[in-house]
Parts: sequence; structure tokens; C-alpha cells
Amino acid sequence: MSEQLIIKGETKQERYDALLPQIEAVLEGESDFIANMANVAAMLHETFGFWWTGFYRVIGEELVLGPFQGPMACTRIRKGRGVCGTAWVKAETQVVPDVELFPGHIACSSASRSEIVVPIWQEGKIIAVLDIDSAQLATFDETDRLYLERIVELLVNRVGNKR
Ligand code: SME
Repeated sequence: MSEQLIIKGETKQERYDALLPQIEAVLEGESDFIANMANVAAMLHETFGFWWTGFYRVIGEELVLGPFQGPMACTRIRKGRGVCGTAWVKAETQVVPDVELFPGHIACSSASRSEIVVPIWQEGKIIAVLDIDSAQLATFDETDRLYLERIVELLVNRVGNKR
């Protein structure tokens, strides 16, 4: 696999369709969860030019910052707090068109205007979340939810597998 991301496509769906096989190729060659979270964050970030793209891992009763791309961020989020903590407690993807209207939103950065948080499941438990922030309102929709849920499933399927 070359280390050059090649993304063509006008629409969001076309860009995800171009990205998916490249994510699969990267995950195919590596089973370490942190390494794979790091490359998935980088590939999503580069493809779409999001404001912040990264992971929080479930550690005890908190989410703890994992690999990400973008400005520095809050390191720990308590269960149920913010969009990330809500996605964890409700055990479902949160699509937030305007973070200022989301009760309890944690503003790690005032530039963040909309957000999607996707829980990552392993053996019936949420082990991490993928959090993506945009500097524009209403960036994320059902297309993002479907593709990002697929991407985190690919990611977790690599954990514990042999190379
Ligand atoms: N906005 C998030 C906090 C994490 S940062 O934005 C990277 C939230 O409310 O969960």
C-alpha cells in the first residue's frame, strides 16, 4: 500500500467510496489498535478537511483522548458528558448540526460548530468513540453516519487479529 492517499470525487459519498478501500488496505497490514486509530484519523481528516478528527478511549468511567488530528483537545470526558459522553451512554451515534444547541456540549474549541460521534463496539461493549468536529454548521448527515459506522467496524475487526 502506498502511503499516498488518493481521493477523487465530487460528492461526500464518492469521497467515502474512494476512501474505504484505502482504509481497508491500511488496516489489512496492521493489527495494533492505536496505530490503526492514528491512521484512520489522519485519512478521514485529510480527505474531508475537518476541524478535528480523533478518538477517545473508554477507560473506567471516563473517555480518555486517543490518536487525533487537529488542535489540542480535552484529555478526559466523564461518562454522559458532552456529545462524546452522550454517544457512549446512549450507545448510539450522535449527529449534532449545531453544537451550541446541544445541552452540555463540551467546547474544547470555540471554532467547532457541528459534530458527529460514533461509538466503537467490541464484544458487546463500547471501547472507544470516533469524534469528528467541523468548523461549519450541519456538516454531518446520514451518509457520514453510515460510512463512519462501517469504518469503525473495520477498525475494531482488526484488533486482536494477526497481521
Ligand atoms: N465536543 C466534544 C468534546 C471533544 S472535542 O470537541 C475534541 C463533546 O462535547 O463531546
